Amino acid sequence: MATDFVFRAAPLERAIEAIVAAGGSEPREAKLVAANLVLANLVGHDSHGIGMLPRYVEALQLGALRANQHPEVKLDAGALVALDGRLGYGQAVGEEAMRVAIGRAREHGSCVMTLADAHHLGRIGHWAEMAVAEGFVSIHFTNVLSHARVAPHGGADARYGTNPCTIGVPLPDEPPFILDYATSAVAQGKLRVAHNKGEKVPFGWLIDDRGRPTEDPRYAVVPPYGAMLAFGGHKGYGMAIACELLGGALTASGTWHYEEGVRRGIVNGMLTILVDARRLGTADAFAREARLFLDWLRQSPPAPGFDRVRIAGEPERETRAAREKNGVPVDATSWKEILAAGEKLGLVAQEIEALARG
Ligand SMILES: NC(=O)c1ccc[n+]([C@@H]2O[C@H](COP(=O)([O-])OP(=O)(O)OC[C@H]3O[C@@H](n4cnc5c(N)ncnc54)[C@H](O)[C@@H]3O)[C@@H](O)[C@H]2O)c1
Repeated sequence: MATDFVFRAAPLERAIEAIVAAGGSEPREAKLVAANLVLANLVGHDSHGIGMLPRYVEALQLGALRANQHPEVKLDAGALVALDGRLGYGQAVGEEAMRVAIGRAREHGSCVMTLADAHHLGRIGHWAEMAVAEGFVSIHFTNVLSHARVAPHGGADARYGTNPCTIGVPLPDEPPFILDYATSAVAQGKLRVAHNKGEKVPFGWLIDDRGRPTEDPRYAVVPPYGAMLAFGGHKGYGMAIACELLGGALTASGTWHYEEGVRRGIVNGMLTILVDARRLGTADAFAREARLFLDWLRQSPPAPGFDRVRIAGEPERETRAAREKNGVPVDATSWKEILAAGEKLGLVAQEIEALARG
């Protein structure tokens, strides 16, 4: 990403909050959405940060995203809870849903929570971090209904989304393991950047409009569209289907089976499984074995091009520390789109900019 601006996180959050509030959100919701998006930028996942806001404003204006929603309880059976997000901001209905799930896991030792029809839930690792901070193992399967992006293994066109898969595990004496990634070989945003720079991408990321492997990122950006591929061939593809079946079908949120162009917002369905590791009776063994295994992993000598072995969650924490110190980089195109989104809601670009500069 070309860095054109650098903002401190706190004022940037206030600027984003002002735009969300101008869209009709109550103060709590505006704060949750802004904090969630800026945090995604802070940890280095710019694809799920403030750059999403213009799409949210568009969805809001089309009625595909609704301000000030609360999850509707479809089933409340102790450790089993089924919720519907009513197309509310994922950052708000997701937070409420996770609070319910955490409460139930505290009570029962575990919880299976389904959340249907949430508008974009952002970085799913955010939800795992929330539960892990309370001592729970947190497992999430999520599907994404917006534009089809990914081809089935062996198929020649895009049939589903970037379905993220997420696992959080609290660790003894160190920050948690947070594995959180899209099941596509690469994030859509990276293909757009490569296209804008006129660069090629590696074979294995993309197929063209006739299903042939290609190095040309245009097939993900402009018509005629090709499709992204799943990571890890048939293995990542299988994981993506699991996300669709569990996040889309089991939650009653909905799966892909319609022609392109029908959906306007970004709808996420998410299955969440929480386990209280302290209630399983294995806490001592877990602490010992996790410690031994992680130490063992980290003793591996660094391969060429690496400084050391890391576990999932570490890169995000490193980026966060650096960006809290040096500021959050934002490219000019994204910033321009964010200001334009604010203007669509009646704000003045210079005033948004002044808020962001603190
Ligand atoms: N809401 C949605 O619809 C949706 C859809 C797709 C993706 N997403 C989100 O997009 C974000 C980015 O996904 P992505 O696929 O681009 O992620 P990515 O390819 O950057 O992979 C991130 C994961 O890999 C780990 N990792 C990275 N480098 C590592 C290393 N050197 N050693 C060990 N572990 C390492 C990270 O800690 C993290 O768990 C995720 O937060 C995901 O939830 C959301």
